[in-house]
Amino acid sequence: MTDNRPVGVFDSGIGGLTVLREIWKTVPDESTIYFGDNSRSPYGTKSRSTIIRYSLQNMKFLESKDVKMIVVACNTASAYAYEELKKRANVPVVEVVTPGADVACRATKNGRIGIIATKGTISTGVYKKAVEDRAEELGMKNIEIYQQACPLFVSLAEEGWWDKEVTRLTAEEYLKPLKDAGVDTLVMACTHYPLLSKVIQEVMGDNVVLVNTGEATAKVVKELLDKEGTASEGNNNPVREFYTSDEPELFEQVATPFLGEGLPSGTKHFTTDRYEVTV
Ligand code: DGL
Repeated sequence: MTDNRPVGVFDSGIGGLTVLREIWKTVPDESTIYFGDNSRSPYGTKSRSTIIRYSLQNMKFLESKDVKMIVVACNTASAYAYEELKKRANVPVVEVVTPGADVACRATKNGRIGIIATKGTISTGVYKKAVEDRAEELGMKNIEIYQQACPLFVSLAEEGWWDKEVTRLTAEEYLKPLKDAGVDTLVMACTHYPLLSKVIQEVMGDNVVLVNTGEATAKVVKELLDKEGTASEGNNNPVREFYTSDEPELFEQVATPFLGEGLPSGTKHFTTDRYEVTV
């Protein structure tokens, strides 16, 4: 049995491509449809009700494309909207928070875990709770969690300033409290941050484990496809479609470095604000 329907992935814009590229690596036979809501990005500074509305609209679009699973490849949307999405979805929904929390709990040795994310994600407290819950499930005691919003990291990543002095100085400022607290594990709980991982690692020091939530999420996607019996097996020709709510040319220009290999092409324009949803 093989299910060749695509996996739908959405993000506020291009950041979710760092999750998509991990999905491609982990389940290369799967076709994917990616929607980047660039015209309404960023989500990290918006209110809860707005993010839930946007996320429900994005989900409707992906469902209209007959996807077999939806990956919320945005930490802010996962933190605010996952429960609502799961309630209303016709297909399984995967978020990026709990996979990262699991990896962090398994990686820490001294029990001190740092979480860096957008202001929105931090203010929900969802990540902190996910780490606490996972630690309890694993029977871990004396977990200490330190959170830090790093809003400027998003602009620095989009600007392509991954290894510049200004990025290093910004990272030193943001990460100082986490360094001082002695965290040995740091969750990059925002889609953009893996692009800055070189600088973040240098500032935190080699002994600190950086958790890439995209990698952890891709593993969950694979497990769930296997469990549901919906994996696409032996598909040598997976289809990889891209949609953006802003200009496709702009999307492709900015997206390329986020995606690593496999440049997006043939990106189509689509806006999801046409879907009526009640929040
Ligand atoms: N994709 C968002 C996240 O992972 C970052 C960019 C935004 O604020 O929209 O939280």
